[in-house]
Parts: sequence; C-alpha cells; structure tokens
Amino acid sequence: MAELPKKRVLSGIQPSGTLHIGNYFGMMRPAIALQAENECFYFIADYHALTQTPDPAELRERVLGVAVDFLACGLDPERTVFFRQSDVPQVQELAWVLSCITPVGLLERCHSYKDKIARGISPNHGLFSYPVLMAADILLYGSHLVPVGRDQKQHLEVTRDLAVRFNQRYGPTLVVPDALIQEATAVVPGTDGQKMSKSYGNTIEIFADAKKTRKRIMRIVTDSTPVEAPKDPERCTVFALYRLFAGPAETAALRERYLAGGMGYGEAKQMLFEKYCSYFGPFRERREELVRQPDHVERILQQGARRARAVASQTLEAVKKAVGLA
Ligand code: ADP
Ligand code: TRP
Repeated sequence: MAELPKKRVLSGIQPSGTLHIGNYFGMMRPAIALQAENECFYFIADYHALTQTPDPAELRERVLGVAVDFLACGLDPERTVFFRQSDVPQVQELAWVLSCITPVGLLERCHSYKDKIARGISPNHGLFSYPVLMAADILLYGSHLVPVGRDQKQHLEVTRDLAVRFNQRYGPTLVVPDALIQEATAVVPGTDGQKMSKSYGNTIEIFADAKKTRKRIMRIVTDSTPVEAPKDPERCTVFALYRLFAGPAETAALRERYLAGGMGYGEAKQMLFEKYCSYFGPFRERREELVRQPDHVERILQQGARRARAVASQTLEAVKKAVGLA
C-alpha cells in the first residue's frame, strides 16, 4: 500500500515570558507528539512579541530561553523545522497581501484583542493586526494542522477565513488549515482556577525551582470542604492538574480518595507536586546541558530558518504571481 503523504503541522509560541504548564499541555506536548508522523514546523513568534514593545536585550534572551525550553521538552530539531519567526522575513510580505483582503470588522471582533483593550492596554496597530500575521505564519508553510490551546481557536478561524477569501479572489493557492485542539488539555487551569496565563499571574512554570513551585502548588485555591468530608474531583483545580501528569489508574485512584473523604487538599497538593517533579525531572537535566551551549541552540535555529525560508519562498512566489505582483 502506498504511504499516505505526511501532514504539515505548524505552531508558534511567543517569547513573552517564562513557559508554564498550560503552554506545555495545551500546545508543546501535542506539538512534540506530532513530530513522529508528520512534517512539523515550530517557531518562536518574536515579531508577535514586539506588539508589547519589550526591552530589546530581554527579547533576544527570551527567544533563546524559549528555544532551550522547547528543545529540553523533546522538540527534535532533526525531524522538525525549528526557527525564529523573524529569520523568515517573507512572512511580512504575505501578511501585507493578506491585510489587503482582511475586513477590519473581522479583526475588531477578535476576543484576544478585545480582552487586552478591556484590561487597559492601549492598542498599537501591530496588536490589532496580530491575527493577520498569525495567518501569514500558518499559510506561508502550507500547514494542514495547527496544534494550539483553545484561546487560539478564533485566530485559526480568521486564518481559514483569509485562506478561503484569497482562494476565491485569486484562484486556489493557499491550503486551508485546521486547528488541532485537544479537549482534555484545551484549557489548563491556573492556581486561582481561571485559565493559566502569564497575564494572570496564576502560572506554574515548567522550569521554576522546586521550592518555588511547591509553594505555588500549596497555594492553589480550593474550597473549604473539611478533611473528613467527600470531595468533588471534577470541581477541584488540584485534581484537574494531577490528571494531566498521571496515568488513568493513578487518576482513578485519586478520584476514589476524593469521593471517599478523609483526605485533605494538602495531601493532594503534595501528590501533585511529586508528579510535577518526576515528570519534568528528565527535561530539567537536558535543559541544564542546553543552557550551557547557546551557540549550539543558535545553530539549530539558523538551520531551521534555512529550511523554513526554502518553503516560504515557494509559497510567496505563488502568492505574488496570483495577485499580479512580480
Ligand atoms: P499566555 O496566555 O500565558 O500568554 P500564550 O498565549 O503565549 O500563553 O500561549 C502559547 C500557547 O500555549 C498557545 O497555543 C496557547 O493556546 C497555549 N496555552 C496557553 N495557556 C494555556 C492554558 N492555560 N491551557 C491550554 N493551552 C494554553
Ligand atoms: N498567537 C499565538 C499565541 O499567542 C502564537 C502564534 C503566532 C501562533 N503565530 C502562530 C500559534 C501560528 C500557532 C500558529 O500563542
């Protein structure tokens, strides 16, 4: 039987802070798992991070930090094209072409933009057109699948909308991608029970030191059910996080203990902390090695960028031809 053609998978992550377990379970772990069977393109969205006008030295450092963390968690640069967004400037040309078919109303309806304004951030044009650049990221590589957490769903809808519009106006040129959102990890809760996010200060970092992490886990908000009483695992953030790390049998065992009563939340938190340590322990060791080799990490990104530019140039050429440029 002929082998099925590989799917092209793409995702990006902003270097806007320290990576947390919401990023890991929502995006990084699914992305890493897809490497075995697909042709993957993963990148660090430094152009997108500019919408927050970060300190230049800090931005540069964070890009390398995210690269190290992603590699430590299992991204394989031999299989996967791993690169820095700004090393492929073709994405900006495509973003402009897409901008010219993007209705302003489509961007005005984006939740992520509206949420930022509601939080008092004064919006720059980059923040407004963020989804157009994201669409360009995805369409430039002819991506079929985009693994992300649920918060990115609407941005994927914008991307699909723009690809369809483009193809209708200029003829079939762009691949219309699908979001890949895994139900079980689509929204990882933070220590306060809301969606875990850098902007909410409720994160558990992947690589923070163990003492600090233990403190944060011990501060996870729980209800005031007394120790003896039965507890509802489905409404408990500690349980929701534990099941991300544990296998089905361990999850079922903890569920039983919640329902039986007689276990305090402190004990569940300690179990969660131990799982966190054993899960990320091996990644931590790999990370320590990578931190000592920034030149090696930079070479990986440069090699990825060369491979990415080769694909990007082809799409861009087809797009320019289709619209009447060049
Ligand atoms: P943050 O909200 O902390 O700024 P980002 O927007 O940088 O995180 O997200 C990077 C990736 O991680 C995206 O694919 C996003 O959907 C995913 N992600 C972020 N937070 C969560 C979460 N709490 N649960 C599931 N996925 C998440
Ligand atoms: N907007 C995404 C986030 O904040 C990052 C991103 C940029 C992205 N371009 C992308 C994700 C393309 C997937 C595909 O998490």
